[in-house]
Amino acid sequence: MADGLPVLSQPADRPEPVDWRRWRDRLLASPRFHRWAAALPGLRWMTRRQSRRLFDLVAGFTYSQILLSCVRLGLFEHLREGARSIADLQALTGLGERSLDILLRAGVSLDLLEWRSAQGAGPERRVGLGMLGAVVAGSPAIVALIEHHQAVYDDLKDPVDLLRHPEQSTRLRRYWAYAEDGYSVAEAEGYRGGQARGLAADRVADYSELMAASQPLVAEQVLASFDFSRYRCLLDLGGGQGAFIEQVARQHPSLSLMLFDLPAVADRARARFAADAIGQRVTCHGGSFFDDEMPQGADLVSLVRVLYDHPDERALSILKAARQALGPRGGDLILAEPMSGTPGAEAMGDAYFGFYLLAMGKGRARSAEELCALVLAAGFDRAEPVKTRVPLQTGLIHARVAATREIG
Ligand SMILES: C[S@@+](CC[C@H](N)C(=O)[O-])C[C@H]1O[C@@H](n2cnc3c(N)ncnc32)[C@H](O)[C@@H]1O
Repeated sequence: MADGLPVLSQPADRPEPVDWRRWRDRLLASPRFHRWAAALPGLRWMTRRQSRRLFDLVAGFTYSQILLSCVRLGLFEHLREGARSIADLQALTGLGERSLDILLRAGVSLDLLEWRSAQGAGPERRVGLGMLGAVVAGSPAIVALIEHHQAVYDDLKDPVDLLRHPEQSTRLRRYWAYAEDGYSVAEAEGYRGGQARGLAADRVADYSELMAASQPLVAEQVLASFDFSRYRCLLDLGGGQGAFIEQVARQHPSLSLMLFDLPAVADRARARFAADAIGQRVTCHGGSFFDDEMPQGADLVSLVRVLYDHPDERALSILKAARQALGPRGGDLILAEPMSGTPGAEAMGDAYFGFYLLAMGKGRARSAEELCALVLAAGFDRAEPVKTRVPLQTGLIHARVAATREIG
């Protein structure tokens, strides 16, 4: 045994099984094989597909910078109402002729933009939105997320250094101020409190705005996949400045609502609802999952984009807090967040969120199975994934605990 794990060794008298993957790896690493495959019409598709996928991995950063440039220069905004001439765009963006030409060609090649008039490089040539550009132009949520990625690119500029020193100071750690909470050290000393509870208003403002701006992408999916009409009162834990609750409230006028978040964030939610008729149906509670009692009275608790920010032991504490909020009467829980192993979007959970959360210094994207196991460990009776229309935008889990169950 080494580090508690059994050492697996092949019995000497049995031949090693044929590992076809080693054979495949050697084949794919061979330039001769590629020349041969590219020459055969039946296998050419494979060579082309592999080359394309590899090229996209190499070029991904450049594509991101093109998208960021289009957003920063307001190109999608300028083109929202219709195509414009190159001369117009030059005036609107302030770019020189050559730079604008490079950006427009790049944007067209990525389906962000589209030529709308005949060939030729004259200043009268018109450009409009491409299929992807039109989606960005119609979504302030996507625009906000793209702009936020400047910080992500900065933090990932030396990825190996970040992998070697994951504890280093990063822009994302400073941005998500609660991620710097000293909880784990304090907990080891027998104190359960963290520092996040005392965060000042200016430390939570930027991330709260970003979360509110991007919330429609998630709320839309949740509302389309889960029936809120069966419930009396929803408590949104880690509810930010109330964007999720607001969307649920608009679709379900008889539901009463509670929000719980760090005190400085709950203040923002309170201020937001004070100016809205919905505010009469909402109460906002400030506190920390780890330090405070949960508001009572809800029959449905939601955790939207909350658990993946936290390591397992803290995620479990948050789920226990959700269980506590439901009290002896029991009730339901929904978890909405990006999930690892999402079919067709595997890279989103493990590659994108893996590295994003590495830079943020905490948490991980979990698979639906891992989340269900955590939910059960927190005292719920059952938990199951619910299909969403666009799983890339959010996964969803529904859990339930019956009345009178002892809280663990
Ligand atoms: C990623 S944001 C998600 C916000 C919102 N649910 C949404 O989807 O837009 C995570 C939220 O958890 C809150 N949070 C982090 N640590 C917390 C703690 N210890 N107690 C209460 N809320 C906390 C943050 O303030 C933030 O609003």
